[in-house]
Amino acid sequence: MDDLRDKYIELIAGAADENALEDLRVQAVGKKGEISLKMRELGKMTPEERQVMGPKLNALKNEINSALAAKKEALADAALDERLRAEWLDVTLPGRGGRRGSIHPISQVTQEVTAIFADMGFAVAEGPQIETDWYNFDALNIPGHHPARAEMDTFYTHRAEGDNRPPHVLRTHTSPVQIRSMEAQGAPIRIICPGRVYRADYDQTHTPMFHQVEGLAIDRDISMAQLKWVLEEFFTAFFGTKVKTRFRASHFPFTEPSAEVDIQCQWKDGSVIVGEGDDWLEVLGSGMVHPKVLQAGNIDPNEWQGFAFGIGIDRLAMLKYGIPDLRAFFDSDLRWLRHYGFASLETPTLYGGLSG
Ligand code: PHE
Repeated sequence: MDDLRDKYIELIAGAADENALEDLRVQAVGKKGEISLKMRELGKMTPEERQVMGPKLNALKNEINSALAAKKEALADAALDERLRAEWLDVTLPGRGGRRGSIHPISQVTQEVTAIFADMGFAVAEGPQIETDWYNFDALNIPGHHPARAEMDTFYTHRAEGDNRPPHVLRTHTSPVQIRSMEAQGAPIRIICPGRVYRADYDQTHTPMFHQVEGLAIDRDISMAQLKWVLEEFFTAFFGTKVKTRFRASHFPFTEPSAEVDIQCQWKDGSVIVGEGDDWLEVLGSGMVHPKVLQAGNIDPNEWQGFAFGIGIDRLAMLKYGIPDLRAFFDSDLRWLRHYGFASLETPTLYGGLSG
């Protein structure tokens, strides 16, 4: 029995892994294992022999079982040590950079414009891109026969045969949001409305979809002087340099008087620099809100007055970021987007300010 004991203790100590150990367990104390067989022989012994051999065999079996358990634990520990040694991770390594998308210049500029006007107390309003004829035209003092309708190259939606209501339009400007805001909140008002507008026009400087930001301020004593201050303040903040403006008398059905506004600029080697020189670049239409427009928005023109303006966002983006071709904005060319796009954390926020 001592031989048996020594043999298994030695074999267990030398087992290389859990599989080898399991084989040894079967061989020694499994159903048909050497020690189990020995225990079966107890039956053939005399009671006296059994009294001596029984406890000895039991003790041997226990000893082998303990040795197996101890070795099993030692092997598991060693395996864990080995894994810890092999599978380490250097958490100080820089991450693998996944390719990130970029913020489109139009989105970027829209955020910039919003941040600047928000600073001056303007809230953001929105309206639908598919607009009724009334909001896009009539309410803005552009009656059915008015030449401005034809000039705007309007996209009309389709009406079913026999349906004689005027078709809806893709809004040709953001001005219908003026009316919607007046209806929704009444006077006083101070809002901007950035968004998409549509006109059937396509060449180097026109795309059938483009972006405007409308501005509207209504109160009891709003003046053209305040319009000029707000716009100059805006351009100076937007371009990061003092920008002079020039107001030219113009005509819009929904403002009276009306002015087109140019910003000071200079042409240098085929590109334009804003805020210096003595050239001028037209960037927006504006004026004092026409009394008929206030009326259409349920605001009493005898009590309230205001200014409105509409700026081309795409034009602003081209000027500020030196982007030469308008059409490329909407081509979705990845190379262009990566070149002119912005990292998401550069986007201005109300709390973070303009610089990225
Ligand atoms: N809606 C005009 C346009 O699209 C711009 C404008 C807005 C003019 C507000 C005056 C007042 O051209």
